[in-house]
Amino acid sequence: MSAPAPATAPGAVLNQGATAEAIQHHYDVSDDFYALWLDTSLTYTCALYQDPADPAETLECAQRRKLDHLVEQARAGGARRVLDIGCGWGSLLRRLAEVYEVPAAVGLTLSATQAARVREQALPGVEVRLEPWQEHRPEGDGYDAIISIGAFEHFAAPGLPRAERVAAYREFFERCAGWLPPGGRLALQTNVKGNNVVMDRATVRDQLFIMDMIFPESEIPALSEVIHGAERQFDVVSLRNDAPHYSRTLREWHRRLTARRTEAIALVGEETTAHYERYLRSAADHFDRRHLGLARITFEKVR
Ligand SMILES: C[S@@+](CC[C@H](N)C(=O)[O-])C[C@H]1O[C@@H](n2cnc3c(N)ncnc32)[C@H](O)[C@@H]1O
Repeated sequence: MSAPAPATAPGAVLNQGATAEAIQHHYDVSDDFYALWLDTSLTYTCALYQDPADPAETLECAQRRKLDHLVEQARAGGARRVLDIGCGWGSLLRRLAEVYEVPAAVGLTLSATQAARVREQALPGVEVRLEPWQEHRPEGDGYDAIISIGAFEHFAAPGLPRAERVAAYREFFERCAGWLPPGGRLALQTNVKGNNVVMDRATVRDQLFIMDMIFPESEIPALSEVIHGAERQFDVVSLRNDAPHYSRTLREWHRRLTARRTEAIALVGEETTAHYERYLRSAADHFDRRHLGLARITFEKVR
């Protein structure tokens, strides 16, 4: 696996975040590869454990709890129309359609294979669009609730000055606010920078490896930047940092991938398999040592 060729001219500012090409570099590796080590719903974000230290709880159960938590936080359960920004392989859309019987749910992704997989499932009332939120124009009068899980990390290009990053995030929040009624909620889950900034050289190398080889063109926000971007649009009604839940999730993914290494190598080759093992192992360490945090934030549109 190698990082994609830059999609923009050298020196050009790419403040809108990861391009479709960069996203596909990661998410279109191979659906079968991801199916080897994700849970059966193919949810590719931090789970929510009752107790991340309790080894008895399954990843499947913790992923369901996470989806239900965010649905509840966004008040999406009884909604008419729900938007899922960064829908992945469709686990939230499926839950909205099948468990909550939401009549219309729209998912956005930049990955063609993810969009195809969601369409294949023919979920009632679900529409998936292969488009960035920056280009999304909802039909009718918008949405009653918005949920975005693990996509925000892709919304600003790496290396921008803080003010430009916040401006990119502000645009996201302005769009969301424009699609919601007064009092409408946005439930957001995103990795954030942790406040332990002391790192040894090996950790710094691992971080650069993840940025270059696994998630090109993406940057993890500081929590303060997320909150700053939402100012004047949304109030924060709840916020939790679930870093231990992400290290548990990543270790479980790593355990599953290692257990099925032979099949993984047959699907994507030895180098890519080794890269993913390194990424999952070192990212778990980052969360354990609080170089990274996992924010679940519930925003309510100000009236
Ligand atoms: C880590 S995956 C998370 C998928 C899913 N929410 C889950 O929990 O499994 C990130 C998702 O964000 C999407 N994404 C990234 N940038 C986006 C953008 N600008 N607009 C819409 N979707 C985007 C990717 O295509 C991918 O589906």
